[in-house]
Amino acid sequence: MVNPAAGLPLIRTERLLLRAFANADADNLVRIAGQRSIADTTISVPHPFTRADALQWIERSQSETLASDHIGFAVADHHGELIGYAGLHDINREHGQAELAFWIDPMRQGQGFAFEAAKGVVNFAFDSLEIHRICAYHMTRNEASGKLLKKLGFEQEGYLRHRVRKWGQFEDVKLWALLR
Ligand SMILES: CC(C)(COP(=O)(O)OP(=O)(O)OC[C@H]1O[C@@H](n2cnc3c(N)ncnc32)[C@H](O)[C@@H]1OP(=O)(O)O)[C@@H](O)C(=O)NCCC(=O)NCCS
Repeated sequence: MVNPAAGLPLIRTERLLLRAFANADADNLVRIAGQRSIADTTISVPHPFTRADALQWIERSQSETLASDHIGFAVADHHGELIGYAGLHDINREHGQAELAFWIDPMRQGQGFAFEAAKGVVNFAFDSLEIHRICAYHMTRNEASGKLLKKLGFEQEGYLRHRVRKWGQFEDVKLWALLR
């Protein structure tokens, strides 16, 4: 049985460590999350992404527990250096639901890191939080996310027309989900 008041665990995957964000991540967080290509296909990353945003992001991560409705992991490489983010949003324990979100430093993309980090978070959600259903959304033009979710075993459940507004334009979004 997990202690709901416990802070975020360390999750080790083959090449990565998923952990709470630390103050020392601030520079890398600003550099990575601040890139337009990250904001371009995400909703929860503001643009521009300032140092104040990074500090707020880190503080939030450090205050999260296993009982929080938002659990965001820093994705670090084997040197401990931040390379991205993988998290669970809108966690609803009554219904056993959560939404998966992720992004990886553009310089580190295309090496399977998002897949590896997302798989670690999915396993954590099913095994430690007893989540029953994980959903994920992506803009239809974001083919990488679609491929990644499919590879994780997610099934596409919906096509949501004009579900989000990005850079002033409405965009269609695909909804995917994976059951435990
Ligand atoms: C989506 C994202 C996280 C993928 O990160 P990544 O580390 O490059 O992903 P992986 O290397 O694990 O690849 C996963 C799959 O996506 C595919 N893929 C990666 N980039 C791609 C691209 N630009 N176009 C098409 N497919 C792509 C890979 O080929 C792989 O599939 P495969 O194993 O069948 O070849 C990354 O592109 C990103 O951070 N994008 C900006 C933020 C974002 O869109 N986040 C998701 C919001 S829903």
